[in-house]
Amino acid sequence: MTDYIKHLTSEGYSYIPGEYYKALDKIYGSGERDYLQELKNGYNNLILDPYSLGNRWRGYAQFRRLEDGTLIFGHFTPYKQTKKYNPDTGDIIRNYPLLPNSITENAILQYLLNDDIIFVEKYGKIGNLEDLTLGIHLFRYQAKFDSPAYSSPVWLHKDDEDVVFVHLINASSNMLGGDSIIASTPAKIERVLRLEKPFDTLVVNHDKYHAVTPVGCSINGEIAIRDIILVTFHKING
Ligand SMILES: [Fe+2]
Repeated sequence: MTDYIKHLTSEGYSYIPGEYYKALDKIYGSGERDYLQELKNGYNNLILDPYSLGNRWRGYAQFRRLEDGTLIFGHFTPYKQTKKYNPDTGDIIRNYPLLPNSITENAILQYLLNDDIIFVEKYGKIGNLEDLTLGIHLFRYQAKFDSPAYSSPVWLHKDDEDVVFVHLINASSNMLGGDSIIASTPAKIERVLRLEKPFDTLVVNHDKYHAVTPVGCSINGEIAIRDIILVTFHKING
C-alpha cells in the first residue's frame, strides 16, 4: 500500500491493480457464499440518475466507522456537489435511495471500505476520519450501440471530495471507452488508463484533473456495462 500512497502524494493519483486486493479471493472464493455475484447482482437494483443525462444507474450511502471498527451506513448529511467543481449538476441537493443492507453488509464491499479507510489514514493529508464525510456510490454505466453512457461532468474536472477511490467491479467485453484520464492542467494529459479486471482501482486527490471517457457498446443490439464503486472522503469543513 505504501507505494500507492506515495504515488498519490507525488502524482495526484494512484493506480492499484486488482491483484493488490488478493485477500478478496478468500472472501469471494470461500465457497460458502458468492459475495462477488451478490455484489454484481446489486447493480440490477439501482435507479437511473434523475439529476443528469448519461444512462448511469446509481445508489448511494454514507458510512462511518464506530470505535469498535463496525461500519454503519445511512444518509448523515445532505449530498450535493458545488458549482465550483461541477458546473453541470452542482449546487443541487440530490437524494438517492439508500443502498440496501444486502449491499452494505457485503463482505467484499466491507473489505474495500476498510482498506480505503486505512489508505486514507496512512495518507494523512486530509485529517482525521472523524472530520471527514465518507460516501459510497455504486454506478452502472449502461450503454447501447446508439445510446452511450457518460459521467457528469464528462470533461476534465476535480471532484468536491478530497480523495476518491474508483473500484471496478465489472466491465463487459463489448464495452467501448471507459478510459480514465489524468491531466495536470486541462491542456496537458499525463496518463490514460483503463480499469479492466475486477477491483482494478484508481485513486485521485485534488492535485490533478481527471475524466472518464464515455462508454459505448461495440455491438448493435447488445448492452455494455461498466460497474464501479466510488468511495469518497470529504473534509467536512473543507
Ligand atoms: Fe470525478
